[in-house]
Amino acid sequence: MKVLHVVGARPNFMKAAPVHRALARAGHEQILVHTGQHYDALMSDVFFKALEIPNPDECLNVGSGSHAQQTATIMSRFEPVVMARRPDIVLVYGDVNSTAAAALVCAKLGIRVGHVEAGLRSFDRSMPEEINRLVTDQIADILFTPSPDGDENLAREGVAKEKVFLVGNVMIDTLIQFLPTADEVFPKLKAGLSLGSYGLVTLHRPSNVDDEATFVPMLATLDSLSETLPLIFPVHPRTRQRWSVLLEQCNPNLRVIAPLGYLEFLALQRNASVVITDSGGIQEETTYLGTPCLTLRENTERPITVTRGTNVLIGRDWELLRSEFHAALDGGRKAPCRLPLWDGKAAERIAAILAELIT
Ligand code: UD1
Repeated sequence: MKVLHVVGARPNFMKAAPVHRALARAGHEQILVHTGQHYDALMSDVFFKALEIPNPDECLNVGSGSHAQQTATIMSRFEPVVMARRPDIVLVYGDVNSTAAAALVCAKLGIRVGHVEAGLRSFDRSMPEEINRLVTDQIADILFTPSPDGDENLAREGVAKEKVFLVGNVMIDTLIQFLPTADEVFPKLKAGLSLGSYGLVTLHRPSNVDDEATFVPMLATLDSLSETLPLIFPVHPRTRQRWSVLLEQCNPNLRVIAPLGYLEFLALQRNASVVITDSGGIQEETTYLGTPCLTLRENTERPITVTRGTNVLIGRDWELLRSEFHAALDGGRKAPCRLPLWDGKAAERIAAILAELIT
């Protein structure tokens, strides 16, 4: 079987890595295409190195742009590559622009597409990722879901159940594999950052960082919370570009630093007293690790992290953020949450299913 993987943005890399590895173990031919949606070394190269992903076979170098520009550039540059390579199946990951763009190209060429992390829904179409999820799931031939809510969403949208496979969470495969190495890097990281107890912050959603009326009070609240507990804030380039002046004025306990590599960020998540984020994947990782997570969004496409895990939705209620922050510190870290099929073997299940379906 010849499998072509498409990755483009930071959250794709930790999802593709275990699937690539599982297919390599089974001896399948593989092609890795990097769209270049993320291109800074700290957003891309460091992940390939830490996660031991081979260098991409093709780089499309699409870079940044509006959604239409980025999606269109990925499509026009990916089409000749996939036509030349003629894979038996193309695997796309998650919900970024690269995911939907590549899936659309394949659907029109009649090349089979597998979507890894299918079925997640925030039911909020103002999020670009929700559009990417809806489009990709409608045109994918094989849909690999991480949790039963994904299967329910797909059934409701009329996706034939024969196409849907509940395999578990590939991002947790990567977490389980690299946790021992993350534990090894933690002491040096802790010393380098002079850390005692701390919280961890990430923010990059357009709904949070593009709008002054949201971002300014959000940052002011974080600034004030950091007087109770130092907060480490690795800043996404999008957030840095928009708010560099304001970020420089934060109190020193709100530690604004460059984006971190996979192992370093995992080590910090595992040892943090609390994580404050608007990321999707971090809601899952903190649930697995038992770290309290306060999500600065009105909704989540990962409801299982709220109902079964450590996640609390805060929205834009800064008083709620304060009270949940203190509750998290009083309550301490939680027991790690072991959800069904979040067991380190999701990628193996994907490889086995593909081997059976693709002949
Ligand atoms: C993208 C994904 C989002 C994901 C996030 C993870 C889409 C629609 N969004 O958002 O789902 O959660 O990645 O990080 O696909 N930039 C750099 N260097 C880079 C990449 C981006 O400086 O390597 C800057 C550029 O100014 C760019 C901006 O960040 O315009 C936004 O990048 P983009 O890829 O459009 O979206 P993200 O916010 O990173």
